[in-house]
Amino acid sequence: AETLPLHGLHVLVTAGPTQEPLDPVRYLTNHSTGKMGYAIAEQARDMGADVTLVSGPVTLSAPRGIDTVHVTTAQQMFNAVQEHFTQADLTIMAAAVGDFRPIEQSSEKIKKNGRINIDLQLTSNPDILAWAGEHKTADQTLCGFAMETQDLESNAAKKLTSKHCSMLVANNLNTPGAGFAVDTNVVTVLKPGATPDEPIIEHWNKMSKQELAERILTELAALR
Ligand code: C5P
Repeated sequence: AETLPLHGLHVLVTAGPTQEPLDPVRYLTNHSTGKMGYAIAEQARDMGADVTLVSGPVTLSAPRGIDTVHVTTAQQMFNAVQEHFTQADLTIMAAAVGDFRPIEQSSEKIKKNGRINIDLQLTSNPDILAWAGEHKTADQTLCGFAMETQDLESNAAKKLTSKHCSMLVANNLNTPGAGFAVDTNVVTVLKPGATPDEPIIEHWNKMSKQELAERILTELAALR
């Protein structure tokens, strides 16, 4: 039989949002549905890889044949990634990780107590992709995502370099057919060029998240 393109490879994928609790009933989160990350995980499985999916809270069901680790907070996602990263040949971080979490989590529901305004103190979460970029070995391939609302190429180029990615997939939230909760995506793909300020930039046409998953994985496999 013909060997599948990712046969024998371990693929690690992060997907979905994180939830950062304020108190037992409230949390900070974002609009990520996990569709892109789940499509990548399923496609990697279908291309023959051994897949670990670290997923934030989503309504999608755990895909068959994939080791799915469910997490809630960015810190939990970081712990799960740290546990699985060394075994991963390809890592794709499609999760929308909350950049900040409340400095303290109240053990009781926060009461209004007649207040008009309240101060909410936030502290930064670990950058999981940046950690992976710092710790990857020469034979590990790392792909990040970026969602931007302005200056897509320059912001994405900075992330590609600063997080030491092999490839970065950037989408503009304001482009029709791109972003959260839709089944298609329109992306700009960046790879390191001759110098850090001259990345290789490709504009890919609008396609389904399934098809995009296949194209991303094929590109990543070709980088190895
Ligand atoms: O810097 P920004 O959040 O735009 O970077 C997006 C990329 O970094 C995505 O691949 C996302 O999964 C990853 N990321 C992460 N941990 C964070 C923030 C972002 O892994 N705390």
